[in-house]
Amino acid sequence: MLASGRGSNLQALLDAITAGALDARVVGVFSDRAGAPALARARDAGIPALALSPRDHPSRDAFDIALFDAVEATAPDLIICAGYMRLLGDAVVAPRSARMVNIHPSLLPDFKGLHTHRQALAAGATRHGASVHFVTADLDGGPVIAQAEVPVFAGDDEATLSARVLEREHPLLVETVRLLAQGRIALGDGGVSFDGRVLHAPLQLAANNRFA
Ligand code: GRF
Repeated sequence: MLASGRGSNLQALLDAITAGALDARVVGVFSDRAGAPALARARDAGIPALALSPRDHPSRDAFDIALFDAVEATAPDLIICAGYMRLLGDAVVAPRSARMVNIHPSLLPDFKGLHTHRQALAAGATRHGASVHFVTADLDGGPVIAQAEVPVFAGDDEATLSARVLEREHPLLVETVRLLAQGRIALGDGGVSFDGRVLHAPLQLAANNRFA
């Protein structure tokens, strides 16, 4: 997993694994910020955690290469970006697109980039949510696997809306990782497939945390 901050999505996966609800293993957590709470969460769980400082590398590409050398040394089947805040170059992304996913706090393709809750409120959106998508060179533009939707209420501010979305991000990530770990989701030339069939729209996480 790649994370720059709080690590609540990492924690959701760890909790599901500990509870025996998700058959997976987190083999390493990597960050561009040594102080990221996500790293402490990993260490608390006995998982190797490594921070690399961009300042110790001469270029973005050199940093990316060092980062992914460390990631690949753990031999992951899947690379999950959860709150990893640095842009990744195409040279490291392109060869890994089919096994690298990101969780983004909006209903993509709406509200890419930063401050998604502020963007949603400014646009007067009545529905908002989160998406898990394959990572491509196109920032927050890779094929979407699954989404969880929440309503936007009159009177919401960024704090209330982001809390409502985050509460759904956690089961969304757990349930999507479950499908990926089971080999039921794949990225092919035709887009995302689920149980061998191309998805024409992202899977939607229902209130009971099952996909509709
Ligand atoms: C989440 O909202 C995620 O969607 C976004 O960054 C935030 C990370 O939260 N990409 P956390 O570090 O997992 O708590």
